[in-house]
Amino acid sequence: MTELRFDGRVAVVTGAGGGLGREYVRLLAARGASVVVNDLGGDIHGSGSSGAAASVVEEIRAAGGVAVASTDSVATVEGGAAIVATALEAFGRIDILINNAGIIRDRVFHRMEPEMVDDVLDVHLRGAFHVTRPAWVHMREAGYGRVLNTTSISGILGMFGQANYGAAKTGLIGLTRVLCHEGAKFGIKVNALAPVARTRLTDELMSDEWMVSALGPVRVAPVAAFLVHEDCPVSGEIYSAGGGRVNRYFIGLTEGWFSADPTVEGVADNLETIRDETGYRVLHEPIDEFDALRRQLEGNPQ
Ligand code: NAI
Repeated sequence: MTELRFDGRVAVVTGAGGGLGREYVRLLAARGASVVVNDLGGDIHGSGSSGAAASVVEEIRAAGGVAVASTDSVATVEGGAAIVATALEAFGRIDILINNAGIIRDRVFHRMEPEMVDDVLDVHLRGAFHVTRPAWVHMREAGYGRVLNTTSISGILGMFGQANYGAAKTGLIGLTRVLCHEGAKFGIKVNALAPVARTRLTDELMSDEWMVSALGPVRVAPVAAFLVHEDCPVSGEIYSAGGGRVNRYFIGLTEGWFSADPTVEGVADNLETIRDETGYRVLHEPIDEFDALRRQLEGNPQ
């Protein structure tokens, strides 16, 4: 297969001063993209700042790539606008956006303070809105775009102590699904990636020896890069990648139970049927569910 390249493309990756984002920008730049390396440079809880973005830019330039740094925060509307403006000022366009910036403020739900919820939603979920909206305007006009949102198994499956983070990450799946539909006419594809990698965010969680050697972020970067490549044929989907494994998560609908006159007891009696995973379907648009219901009401469920 010919090498999949990004020549002439401009990519913005948020939170690219370290961890996964750094590997994403290094790979995209090595394959010809001009990249905006955005990173506020804080600690894992979002405080402080450092020269993380600038040092990744230096690394990319030293390897012959094209990169500029952005230290604006994704957590505000102004920050999001400034990040996109950096791409437009430096390179005149924006083709690719990877919403990757992230922090954690873990605590069991009953002890979680409101500001811990706000801080995490502001970076992960609202941050994706703040950066994607100004980028979207340009992508729509250009008739081309690739957006990759970073979700997590914490949002898909639930992780103890991460109510704020899990909710934000599932919110990004909703954003991905809606933007998939809104972007389709304009050549914009939007997907979500749940990475698994040993970074400063996860080094305590992933300290087993096999994890240290297998879970480098470098094994996730090719998956992210493919999902933002021109040849990527899919949109609105959720992928999982870590340690070299690449999978797809999907939301399935069971065949379920139907009654024109449902009762509480009917639900109780038929719970097993409602839950039965045999013959589940993967629907693509809300209209698919309405169609299924209409067919059921007409006595023709297939
Ligand atoms: P990381 O901590 O190395 O990278 C996150 C980067 O985001 C940091 O460099 C940080 O400075 C930056 N950042 C934080 N707040 C920011 C803001 N307001 N504006 C701009 N930049 C900001 O952690 P990692 O693991 O590379 O995380 C990358 C993404 O992947 C995050 O969204 C994380 O939630 C997600 N993720 C990571 C997993 C893993 O296994 N490492 C698992 C699931 C999701």
